[in-house]
Amino acid sequence: MIRFIIVHMEKRLYKWAFLEYKHIGELISRDLVLFTNLTKTMAKTLSPIGKTTTETIERLPLNRPCLLDPHAEKTLAPEESKQFSDFIFGGILGDYPPQKRTQELVTLLPHVPRRNLGKEQMSTDTAIFVTKKICDGIPLEKLVFHDEYTIPMGEGMEMNLPYRYLVDDGKIIFSDKLLAYLKKKKGF
Ligand SMILES: C[S@@+](CC[C@H](N)C(=O)[O-])C[C@H]1O[C@@H](n2cnc3c(N)ncnc32)[C@H](O)[C@@H]1O
Repeated sequence: MIRFIIVHMEKRLYKWAFLEYKHIGELISRDLVLFTNLTKTMAKTLSPIGKTTTETIERLPLNRPCLLDPHAEKTLAPEESKQFSDFIFGGILGDYPPQKRTQELVTLLPHVPRRNLGKEQMSTDTAIFVTKKICDGIPLEKLVFHDEYTIPMGEGMEMNLPYRYLVDDGKIIFSDKLLAYLKKKKGF
């Protein structure tokens, strides 16, 4: 069975990150999702979305792991995805220009093979959904993407998210709850 392991790397569980994680729970079966590096309180909050542990990723027993890293040399392909079982992602909020924080995971897991999903920065929920599609047999080049998601904020204002999002069935895959939150908050 494959697992999608999210290594929470932010100091707090920001609302934005929480809503992205909630979106993961809407896209992927709870049994396949594991959040690590959590405090006890975070683990309690995230337990309805996926499995949780306060353990750090370096101490967690891993089964045929693969770290998803935008700076990896090789792109994840459907045929070789079968050789992996645990797909590991940084639970990191997007930033622009990218701070390359996934590198911290490379340092922690030096022997784990790495694969990219293209060079563009995706949100964690998007990266997980794209990995799932590749594991289901669809190569990256057959997937449709939308770069820079623009959210109209009213009064002629808009907010630009400079990340790559998946388009599925003609619809940009973006959390409804995050969209509502950002509109209400009127920005970052
Ligand atoms: C928002 S990204 C964090 C990017 C962060 N700003 C950085 O520079 O590392 C969150 C996670 O999604 C995954 N991810 C995002 N885009 C990716 C890509 N193009 N290829 C592989 N993994 C990606 C990585 O696991 C990454 O740690």
